[in-house]
Amino acid sequence: MSSPSPRSHLYRLLLILLVFGIGFLAVKEWATPDSWNYEVWYRGDAIKDIAAQPLAYGGNDSCKSCHKDVSRLWRKKPHRTVACETCHGPIIDHVKDKEKTGAALVDKTRGQCLNCHLEQINRPKGFKQFSKQGEIGKSVQKHKELDEVTPCLKCHDAHDPQP
Ligand code: HEC
Ligand code: HEC
Ligand code: HEC
Ligand code: HEC
Repeated sequence: MSSPSPRSHLYRLLLILLVFGIGFLAVKEWATPDSWNYEVWYRGDAIKDIAAQPLAYGGNDSCKSCHKDVSRLWRKKPHRTVACETCHGPIIDHVKDKEKTGAALVDKTRGQCLNCHLEQINRPKGFKQFSKQGEIGKSVQKHKELDEVTPCLKCHDAHDPQP
């Protein structure tokens, strides 16, 4: 009687590894999208999908045709680099096919302004900040007297913020 080869447990192990290896390749082949881009590692069709999404924001020029006064004023004021839609929401919620279909957002809370003007060390150098204590930003006497609730719009016009 010949005894089993002393290496038979290794052959069995090899077989198991082989089955797993082939199984892995099969699942990978099945699960990888057809348009997978192996060079930069993303699904190629994702670009088409994203480009096909409906337009939500129109940019500042999209307001001009109906709000001439505000748009004209805008060009000369400190907020000229700010997009209307950051404060008023996407045009798609407000206008469709050149007709007003819903109210544009009008947020008059302090939070709206503080989103950009809250004193923070990471703001661009020289950016005008709301600094209650005047430690980092330029000191504004009026701000030192403020409580936590007075709306910014009491003294500032959102479209023409220089008080
Ligand atoms: C910093 C935030 C902010 C930005 C940016 C902004 N607005 Fe406003 N807007 C307001 C606020 C706040 C009011 C409400 C003012 C009030 O009732 O005292 C308002 C009111 C309006 C109104 C209605 C009243 C009016 O003045 O005619 C229109 C229209 C308007 N905005 C259009 C625009 C357009 C167009 C732009 C871009 C060119 C723009 N807004 C950019 C905050 C903003
Ligand atoms: C097709 C015309 C049209 C376009 C384009 C348009 N609006 Fe309006 N908007 C209106 C009309 C009409 C009103 C209501 C009448 C009014 O108060 O002048 C209005 C009112 C507003 C108001 C006051 C709040 C309200 O809903 O009544 C704001 C703020 C406003 N628009 C912002 C914007 C912004 C920002 C854009 C560009 C992203 C824009 N609108 C583009 C027609 C338009
Ligand atoms: C999306 C960002 C953003 C929002 C929201 C915003 N601002 Fe501004 N603000 C700016 C930028 C950008 C400037 C121009 C800064 C510069 O030129 O150095 C500015 C300038 C100013 C200035 C300085 C004017 C000057 O030159 O002396 C005041 C005051 C001001 N904003 C007040 C407000 C108030 C009040 C609100 C809320 C109604 C508000 N801002 C909302 C970005 C914003
Ligand atoms: C009681 C009136 C008042 C209120 C309320 C107020 N401000 Fe002011 N703000 C002023 C005055 C006055 C100035 C100084 C204008 C100047 O000398 O150029 C100023 C200046 C600013 C400046 C420019 C700062 C600089 O370094 O030149 C910013 C930004 C500003 N305010 C943001 C805000 C924000 C954001 C709020 C709300 C959280 C607010 N302000 C509330 C009166 C006020």
